[in-house]
Amino acid sequence: MYRILYFLFFLSYSRVICFSFSNSTKLCPHHQNVALLRLKQTFSVDVSASFAKTDTWKEDTDCCSWDGVTCNRVTSLVIGLDLSCSGLYGTIHSNSSLFLLPHLRRLNLAFNDFNKSSISAKFGQFRRMTHLNLSFSGFSGVIAPEISHLSNLVSLDLSIYSGLGLETSSFIALTQNLTKLQKLHLRGINVSSILPISLLNLSSLKSMDLSSCQLHGRFPDDDLQLPNLKVLKLKGNHDLSGNFPKFNESNSILLLDLSSTNFSGELPSSISILKSLESLDLSHCNFSGSIPLFIASLDNLTELSFLDLSNNKLEGVIPSHVKELSSLSSVHLSNNLFNGTIPSWLFSLPSLIELDLSHNKLNGHIDEFQSPSLESIDLSNNELDGPVPSSIFELVNLTYLQLSSNNLGGIVETDMFMNLENLVYLDLSYNILTLSNYNHSNCALPSLETLLLSSCDISEFPRFLCSQELLAFLDLSNNKIYGQLPKWAWNVGTETLSYLNLSQNMLTRFERFPWRIMQYLDLHSNLLQGPLPSLICEMSYIEVLDFSNNNLSGLIPQCLGNFSKSFSVLDLRMNQLYGTIPKTFSKGNLIRNLDFNGNQLEGPLLRSLINCRRLQVLDLGNNRINDTFPHWLETLPELQVLILRSNRFHGHVRGSNFQFPFPKLRIMDLSRNGFSASLSKIYLKNFKAMMNATEDKMELKFMGEYSYRDSIMVTIKGFDFEFVSILFTFTIIDLSSNRFQGDIPDFIGSLSSLRELNLSHNNITGHIP
Ligand SMILES: *[C@@H]1O[C@H](CO)[C@@H](O)[C@H](O)[C@H]1NC(C)=O
Ligand SMILES: *[C@@H]1O[C@H](CO)[C@@H](O)[C@H](O)[C@H]1NC(C)=O
Ligand SMILES: *[C@@H]1O[C@H](CO)[C@@H](O)[C@H](O)[C@H]1NC(C)=O
Ligand SMILES: *[C@@H]1O[C@H](CO)[C@@H](O)[C@H](O)[C@H]1NC(C)=O
Ligand SMILES: *[C@@H]1O[C@H](CO)[C@@H](O)[C@H](O)[C@H]1NC(C)=O
Ligand SMILES: *[C@@H]1O[C@H](CO)[C@@H](O)[C@H](O)[C@H]1NC(C)=O
Ligand SMILES: *[C@@H]1O[C@H](CO)[C@@H](O)[C@H](O)[C@H]1NC(C)=O
Ligand SMILES: *[C@@H]1O[C@H](CO)[C@@H](O)[C@H](O)[C@H]1NC(C)=O
Ligand SMILES: *[C@@H]1O[C@H](CO)[C@@H](O)[C@H](O)[C@H]1NC(C)=O
Ligand SMILES: *[C@@H]1O[C@H](CO)[C@@H](O)[C@H](O)[C@H]1NC(C)=O
Ligand SMILES: *[C@@H]1O[C@H](CO)[C@@H](O)[C@H](O)[C@H]1NC(C)=O
Ligand SMILES: *[C@@H]1O[C@H](CO)[C@@H](O)[C@H](O)[C@H]1NC(C)=O
Repeated sequence: MYRILYFLFFLSYSRVICFSFSNSTKLCPHHQNVALLRLKQTFSVDVSASFAKTDTWKEDTDCCSWDGVTCNRVTSLVIGLDLSCSGLYGTIHSNSSLFLLPHLRRLNLAFNDFNKSSISAKFGQFRRMTHLNLSFSGFSGVIAPEISHLSNLVSLDLSIYSGLGLETSSFIALTQNLTKLQKLHLRGINVSSILPISLLNLSSLKSMDLSSCQLHGRFPDDDLQLPNLKVLKLKGNHDLSGNFPKFNESNSILLLDLSSTNFSGELPSSISILKSLESLDLSHCNFSGSIPLFIASLDNLTELSFLDLSNNKLEGVIPSHVKELSSLSSVHLSNNLFNGTIPSWLFSLPSLIELDLSHNKLNGHIDEFQSPSLESIDLSNNELDGPVPSSIFELVNLTYLQLSSNNLGGIVETDMFMNLENLVYLDLSYNILTLSNYNHSNCALPSLETLLLSSCDISEFPRFLCSQELLAFLDLSNNKIYGQLPKWAWNVGTETLSYLNLSQNMLTRFERFPWRIMQYLDLHSNLLQGPLPSLICEMSYIEVLDFSNNNLSGLIPQCLGNFSKSFSVLDLRMNQLYGTIPKTFSKGNLIRNLDFNGNQLEGPLLRSLINCRRLQVLDLGNNRINDTFPHWLETLPELQVLILRSNRFHGHVRGSNFQFPFPKLRIMDLSRNGFSASLSKIYLKNFKAMMNATEDKMELKFMGEYSYRDSIMVTIKGFDFEFVSILFTFTIIDLSSNRFQGDIPDFIGSLSSLRELNLSHNNITGHIP
């Protein structure tokens, strides 16, 4: 894994970031020659590395002439070693001959794979070292505290993805002792410390990258006294809080990245003093409050090229009088509370490449775009109205266009997209748009990977799809496509399509399943008739199959229990299927939701259901299943919803030998069956999940992944409700219309999270506790 990772890095970056600085005049001393050759021997070189610096290292030649080696001009001692991106693999032990080069001032071993070597105390012996770079080279463990002895260091880069730690005391010692530091890059190292004040006394610091260092505590509120600081990255320290840092006129910062931290408060309007600012990333923080003054003060930032304020709680109207942002190429303001119209300057930025204003409350029309270099536009999930501006179709480099979930209206001519040769992602769903000319026989549209046209008033399977050879995601749901798919449609994306949503149309037949890598197929709420052919089981990568609310009849193909290793959701609710549910569910399956509600299934339940260890929802309601209570399901660790309503279940519902049967059950509907038992003897008492469902913060959590929302039908006060998404806190017991008897036990009161309890139409006696 490590090796592949570093190798990939090597391939992609070696040309760009690797350079060497070798030259000198005198011959290198013999013992240094020997040490270097020995060092070379401890590594193997990745055969796929296109060139290795160590290839030029040969016996009986002057080491000062070797690639990556720099010698002192006078003494010829080796003072620099740059083996970055050399495809080296091997361990650096503390007896490595690397440590026989005590005169080293610069050492760069970045982007190799040192096989989880430790950064040992020996590194602390390079007292003259000014530049140490061990980034992304597979070191691991805890960095020896002796690193803080390198008090001449000007540049220290130990960045890594993960696997390295630095003890808090070492970190503090480092910030106190390495006072000459200009570059401090410890990205990804687990420092797990509060941000030490001493860090902000490193007055020479130009570049500080402490991203993902598990820093916590509070960033100081005082003026930042780092006049040379150009780059400050604190990204991904989720527990680091503070206000927007206080800069003053003497700061000349270029890049500030506080994303994914807990910084909060309002954004200052004094940002305009950072005249050199090129990149500002404040995304995924907790900033709040009104934005207009802040944005207006961006006016003078002529160098600003990247601006990301997304995923905060910023509000207000984006001001209209901003003008000088001629370098701005990326603007991300999504997932905030901005309202009002989109100001015209956002449509006329000369260098703009990415514009993301999605998930706000912006209204009004979309202006014509005057930024010819635009590649990505996301205005989805706002309240925008009016037509899709025609200038969009002139943006020759556009690859990503996302306009869904607005109130955009009017007609979109499909052939307009023909010019957009680079387009790969198009989403026009959930507007009040009408798509026209989609049935031209000259099938022309750029080659898309994602096409989402839900609710676009489409009445036939669009002809232009026949030329789509790369399509992976297709959503044509909620349209008026009627009858059968045309013959050519079965050839669309057979090798590429993994997501197909044709739900909420008027399709009557669907007989083939030619898509080899399909993962998600949704045909719910159509008019499909006839049996489900077992061809369906040829889609061996399928995860979600939804055929609910159709008119399918016949038997359920038995292969459905056992055909795709990743199968997760099978929804056949509300059809006319009969026979039994699939008999064999293989061991280790990943099935999460089985919904057979509202069919005519019969027979006893088969025990192989117990192989569905991941099952969360089992809905067998409104069928003709004749069996006793399936006690054996009580060990399913994830089962949350069990609906047996209106079947022919009968017999006793007993207690259990387990302390916590059905450990996660929150909805149990046994109504309208022939169950009998004394209430005091049945389960209820042990339903752990119904006692302590957590409702903190009223956060709405839904079961299921983003793509498929579990839905169930429940009856409350005599009315059937369909809950399209099941709230985690929704807890119900419905035992109505059975033959339960005896007293209502007192322990029912301990089910403190219960929202609905229906015991009506039984033979219950005694008092109500
Ligand atoms: C460390 O070396 C790599 C590869 O040469 C380079 O990309 C990176 O910028 C260096 N780090 C510092 C702080 O100079
Ligand atoms: C090394 O230095 C000499 C003299 O200073 C120069 O002529 C030669 O081009 C240099 N070689 C490299 C590889 O920079
Ligand atoms: C890499 O590390 C493993 C585990 O410590 C060790 O067995 C192996 O010999 C090392 N490989 C090299 C080339 O050092
Ligand atoms: C260096 O140390 C390692 C591990 O302690 C050992 O396996 C190796 O033999 C030593 N090499 C030399 C040259 O002493
Ligand atoms: C600071 O560096 C000096 C040598 O440069 C060293 O002796 C001393 O122990 C270091 N202090 C700490 C706290 O590491
Ligand atoms: C970081 O280190 C701390 C203290 O050593 C430890 O508790 C924590 O689990 C580590 N975090 C990660 C992500 O490794
Ligand atoms: C922009 O700069 C000009 C001249 O340097 C200054 O007068 C003006 O106040 C600045 N605008 C903002 C919003 O800081
Ligand atoms: C924007 O929202 C604020 C409340 O957050 C409201 O006071 C203001 O009137 C709204 N402005 C517009 C133009 O909708
Ligand atoms: C489109 O992209 C190409 C390649 O990156 C670039 O050369 C060209 O200038 C861009 N066109 C516009 C209008 O920005
Ligand atoms: C259930 O099955 C049993 C045995 O097969 C049969 O005797 C009984 O009548 C069935 N009950 C119902 C309600 O169909
Ligand atoms: C429910 O929560 C209470 C208090 O938080 C706790 O005492 C009790 O043990 C919990 N019950 C279960 C079954 O987890
Ligand atoms: C109702 O329960 C009583 C005992 O509590 C029993 O005698 C009676 O037969 C039951 N009725 C029915 C219809 O099951």
